Amino acid sequence: MYDVNSLRSDFPILERQVYGHPLVYLDNTATTQTPRCVVEAIENVYYNTKANVHRGVHTLSQEATDLQEATRERVREFINAKSTEEIIFTRGTTEAINLVASSYGDLLENGDEIILTVMEHHANIVPWQLLGRRKRIILRIVPINEKGELDMVAYRSLFNDRTKLVAVCHVSNVLGTVNPIKEMIAEAHSNGVPVLVDGAQAISHMKVDVQDLNADFYVFSSHKMYGPSGVGVLYGKKYLLEMMPPYQGGGEMIGQVSFDHTTFAALPFKFEAGTPDFVDIAAFHTAIDYMTSIGVERIAEHEHELLTYTTEKMMEIPGMRIFGTAPGKCAVISFLIGNEHHYDIGMLLDKLGVAVRTGHHCAQPLMSALGIEGTVRASFAMYNTKAEADAFIAALRRVSSMLG
Ligand code: ALA
Repeated sequence: MYDVNSLRSDFPILERQVYGHPLVYLDNTATTQTPRCVVEAIENVYYNTKANVHRGVHTLSQEATDLQEATRERVREFINAKSTEEIIFTRGTTEAINLVASSYGDLLENGDEIILTVMEHHANIVPWQLLGRRKRIILRIVPINEKGELDMVAYRSLFNDRTKLVAVCHVSNVLGTVNPIKEMIAEAHSNGVPVLVDGAQAISHMKVDVQDLNADFYVFSSHKMYGPSGVGVLYGKKYLLEMMPPYQGGGEMIGQVSFDHTTFAALPFKFEAGTPDFVDIAAFHTAIDYMTSIGVERIAEHEHELLTYTTEKMMEIPGMRIFGTAPGKCAVISFLIGNEHHYDIGMLLDKLGVAVRTGHHCAQPLMSALGIEGTVRASFAMYNTKAEADAFIAALRRVSSMLG
């Protein structure tokens, strides 16, 4: 039994009122809410074990280090990486992609090519463009069909002997499309090309096994996994991380430093310059435990039921236009009503207590491909209910009639 009401009681924020209405939080693609146990884990570090990690012989420092390294092992287990050497802590998905763009990018040469898709978040576009300031890199873009699925024929045709990387989202933050990552990775590997997967929108909605996918890099953020903000993960295959130069310089990423010559630390520390966000990293462990205690597959099933129910009801509203209708999509609904402005719909929904995101969702090239400026986006998480879906639909009907 999936007891949504019982697990809602773990999230105090869900009891909030907004403009006198019970909060209906449907902006989970932007960030998920945090259960009490994760907040308590943060509190525990601040109250009991706060000390800098990997830097002290004293008890608190060793305890703080143990907490951080236990999270690294928990992440390794969660995504089935071979070794904790392959788990790098970053500030989030964005920093993880910037790290790869900078360090793997260092290995590329003028005229090399990278394959992206039209549905990428800016975090998986702009770092590659910034790399283009250091060397001439050509970006090849996979288009989508009318359902919001990647054109796999086009994908296969983009490889040539200058292709050096594929960088693709596992799940689109706008369309909800689940891309055929395993197939895409196999295709890339048959061309001798590694693949970076932006897993930010997948990691809390499906089981991810990096060895089964055979992903070369897989990146994600804690705050979209019911965990604290400010923590992300770069998974990278060891042989690639070893080939790559460090990203940032600073404490703890070195072997030996002199003014003439510096050697670097072994993995994963080579990529973790400076004091990490060790408090939130410690609490991230609790978030993974919390999510797995409920079960990622069961959460996904619950979200899919809400997706199907809500989509059917939404389609009864005159003028409803849903962007992204790929079979098996994640519980993300991007929409417009007629020609009404997304911002007006979002603002009126907020006045009725419903939190959705509006705008281009950091995916302007996708908006251009769809011929629109932005959408309203409702997205579901483990704690959303059918009653909330009904409240959202009722609010949407009201907004629709208000806008005429
Ligand atoms: N990437 C997040 C979103 O799509 C912030 O809203």
